[in-house]
Amino acid sequence: MAYQLTINGQTHEVDVEGDMPLLWVVRDHLNFTGTKFGCGVAQCGACTMQVDGVATRTCVLTVANAVGRNITTIEGLQSPQARAVQAAWVELQVPQCGYCQSGQVMSATALLEQNSAPTDAEIEAAMAGNICRCGTYSRIKAGIHMAAAQLKNTGGAA
Ligand code: FES
Ligand code: FES
Repeated sequence: MAYQLTINGQTHEVDVEGDMPLLWVVRDHLNFTGTKFGCGVAQCGACTMQVDGVATRTCVLTVANAVGRNITTIEGLQSPQARAVQAAWVELQVPQCGYCQSGQVMSATALLEQNSAPTDAEIEAAMAGNICRCGTYSRIKAGIHMAAAQLKNTGGAA
């Protein structure tokens, strides 16, 4: 069946089964491969995209349920918060192997879009669903604080 999806501000039509996870569609049918497959059961966060601005595990979101929603992948992140997160990630050399980091950046950006100055506890709560096997958690937390500080210093225009 054909489904129309709005991804990174553009409409894409795919002809797939309705119960196919959005992650599969985005990676295998639309070739946006920045988002990664980790566990497939909503436990690791590697597949995180923003759906209507909310960090969402797309390994368990069916394409049928993604219709009519604004979907953003790592390739389409453009907000000031996203740019601040990416700059902080580079500055602090947050990634190690990098596999989890697309999902980490998506969740960190969604957090800062909703909370411009999160505390350590708020960061831990927001990022709890994003697992990093390399253990980069302390740099992730520092990166979020750095991005928040940069956004504050520039009045939100990173
Ligand atoms: S692949 Fe979706 S949460 Fe792990
Ligand atoms: S950087 Fe390797 S899993 Fe997170």
